[in-house]
Amino acid sequence: QYTSLHPNFRTISPNHVTPPPPPTTITSSTTQSLSQVSVKPNIQYRAYSPQHFYQNRILDQYSSQPINPITLRQLIVFGRNLTEERIIKSGHYVRTELPIRIAHRIRDFQNLPFIVGTNPHLSMVYDLYWTAFEKLRKIPPVRTMDENNEWCEIIKGLLKDHLVVIPKLAMGIMECSEHLSGEQLDRFMNTMLRSRISRRVLAEQQIALTENWHDPGYAYDQSDNDGWIGVISTHCNAKEILEKCAKMTRNFFKTYYGVEPPQVLADGQVDSTFAYIPDHIEYIIYELLKNSIKSVIEKHAPSILSTSQSPSKQMLESSQLFPPITVTICSGPTDIYFRISDQGGGIPDKLYPYIWSFAHKSNDKKNLHKFTNFSKVPQMAARVEEYEQHIIPPDLSLGIGLPMSKVYAEYWGGGLNIFSLDGYGVDAYVKITKLGNKIENLV
Ligand code: COI
Repeated sequence: QYTSLHPNFRTISPNHVTPPPPPTTITSSTTQSLSQVSVKPNIQYRAYSPQHFYQNRILDQYSSQPINPITLRQLIVFGRNLTEERIIKSGHYVRTELPIRIAHRIRDFQNLPFIVGTNPHLSMVYDLYWTAFEKLRKIPPVRTMDENNEWCEIIKGLLKDHLVVIPKLAMGIMECSEHLSGEQLDRFMNTMLRSRISRRVLAEQQIALTENWHDPGYAYDQSDNDGWIGVISTHCNAKEILEKCAKMTRNFFKTYYGVEPPQVLADGQVDSTFAYIPDHIEYIIYELLKNSIKSVIEKHAPSILSTSQSPSKQMLESSQLFPPITVTICSGPTDIYFRISDQGGGIPDKLYPYIWSFAHKSNDKKNLHKFTNFSKVPQMAARVEEYEQHIIPPDLSLGIGLPMSKVYAEYWGGGLNIFSLDGYGVDAYVKITKLGNKIENLV
């Protein structure tokens, strides 16, 4: 259990609503009336302000309500045969659900120890969440299509504002790794990320359904529309996903190092299809391929990664060939599997136990200061296309790609495992549920 609370944060438990102490101390020699006391806008007193007290009571009303989780299948079934009434109904559900989901996470922030809460990256996210919560809860219920359209514009803005959340959280918890155990920080981060995915899925699905509805070319009366139901594709093709991610990762290394990266070869049941949110699976495959390609280059041509020459000057002898990365696809009765095998030398045994940690001290912090220039921070917006707009050196990463991919894989009930042959290479196993019948993994 944590011992102290951040003063900016919550001071009142749901069961204890006695007002906290007044903001200033008046000494016995003071004859001023309270109105004469100058209360400096000292951030330390924010938690004691009447406004904060009032806000926390409102937060209690939301964070004490349970979350109503959904399955991918429910989203698919609901989004088929769209009608105006259905869009309004789902707009109403999302409008009710988002402030509750975000309120739970604001509580998590408030339960962090004082010192962790003072971290500037974490308190920035905390402020973003409060702002979003206030906006979301004040929007009137969605009863008409016009109200739904307005509501969608607001959530579009919030989605954009929150692009910075993941790198900020990652930097914050890495900086706090002295103050909480790795286990506590990882638990906090996992819960934050799952909840964030859940809010973004609800918001993006509602926006996409609304846009579909307004699109004159959209055949909303068909049972399926080119395989797309909002942000879900019912015809995700394993090979196409792999090819897209391989092309992007290989281009990334080609652009940066000026070398021909290892080939990515597919075998097995490559034409398997399944219903999923492509952004989620692409994020995982992209990250895994990036790790594999980087480690293969590192093992077989280490000079390329260590050189400080500009990419265009780098030359790899044309005879140099890297061993390929093989991706085996298997479609079982309930799940699709991707096994990504590389010969990049594996993960050293001493690091292996920490590969899933966001916060472990082994996570390289020496690069953190370089991320203070905000425009360079990888947005990690869960859309691989966005990586192309941010070419960040492969050695300058926050080092959270693997735990983040695991969160994505487990979100709809799948999984991610890594087996390492230290000195030889890595096999990564991704399991994706095909039936869409698992509820969102929010815990
Ligand atoms: C997030 O991206 O963290 C959100 O909560 C977005 C949501 C408010 C629309």
